[in-house]
Amino acid sequence: MTEDPTSERIPPRGGVLRPAADVPQGSVESLLNTILRGPVEPLEITAAHRALLTALDEALERARTEGDTGALLDVHRSAYTVYEGLLGHPLGIAVHERSAWLNAFRWTYEEAVLRTDTAAIADRLPGPREATRPEFVRDWFLTEAKERNELDRLVETHLAERATMAQLAQFIQADGYLNYRFFDALVLAQPHFMETVKHEISHHLWDECGEGEQRRAHTLQFTRSLRTLGLSLPTVPPWEDWRPYAGHNLYFVLACNRRNHFKALGSLAMPELFDVDRDAAVVSGLERHGYGAQQDFEFFYNHMEGDAEHGPEWLDGVVLPIVAAEPEAGLELVTGGALRMLAMRRYNEYLADLLGVTEVAAERTS
Ligand SMILES: [Fe+2]
Ligand SMILES: [Fe+2]
Repeated sequence: MTEDPTSERIPPRGGVLRPAADVPQGSVESLLNTILRGPVEPLEITAAHRALLTALDEALERARTEGDTGALLDVHRSAYTVYEGLLGHPLGIAVHERSAWLNAFRWTYEEAVLRTDTAAIADRLPGPREATRPEFVRDWFLTEAKERNELDRLVETHLAERATMAQLAQFIQADGYLNYRFFDALVLAQPHFMETVKHEISHHLWDECGEGEQRRAHTLQFTRSLRTLGLSLPTVPPWEDWRPYAGHNLYFVLACNRRNHFKALGSLAMPELFDVDRDAAVVSGLERHGYGAQQDFEFFYNHMEGDAEHGPEWLDGVVLPIVAAEPEAGLELVTGGALRMLAMRRYNEYLADLLGVTEVAAERTS
């Protein structure tokens, strides 16, 4: 059975730009959006482009030195607009993709993210010699993905045991944007390094698009979950927080740069290993509210089962063969994995705020 084509989510031709009236004057986002709405200027660096690149540098500096969350949101939301433009409607703002200013913007953003986040995970990384051993790298992934800090546990317990239906709906909506882009993150990580790896990723792509049955595509499963709740996804995400933007963008910082190929693969391994418990918590929460998760929320139910297999397959089919063929890739894979865990931890902090998890926990212990 084929799905009604009108139920498909198609990227908007105008990209994901917010209306100009909602965007603060002089912000990175405002300067970026004005250029994206303007003519294609592939080789020039105009005064407007310079103003954008200066604003980006200044915002990154405020983010780095003062931890300015407004600057972080401005920068990561702007980068999200860029990636969505590049991966979105081919007749939309993708026309700018070869422009010199856009390359400069991406280079500046991507280097800053990698520099800051790599420094933040330095203490999670093994020594360079250990990271050349395939089995060591596999075990490192398993251990890191299974580690839960206090907040991770609180969020999962809250979803499973206490979240209201409105909160579960909020969680599902916030999660949605990545679910529609996960296939793309996998595709972008596929260009050949080894046949073994291509084979393994093909297998995951086949799963993602419904094993030959359109209706079972994970995106359409997710669309049906939203429908069960009477929800849709607004074009612009409802995240008024830099952390979900940063986590989403990380997939494309890594996957859209060949030099980050091994990091991209390491990053993609993590949700397969980490999300099983998260999906199980969501399924318990939904069942607590009287839903049959297997019928009403097949996306979460199927991922809980599917990823229990995907995680080990990813380690055997991607991590082990790559480190055996290229020992120096071990540290890259591990770095990508640790960057993804950092992004997931930040996302959990965002969720804890969104769902009021920490206040609930404080009340229960007082
Ligand atoms: Fe999936
Ligand atoms: Fe998976």
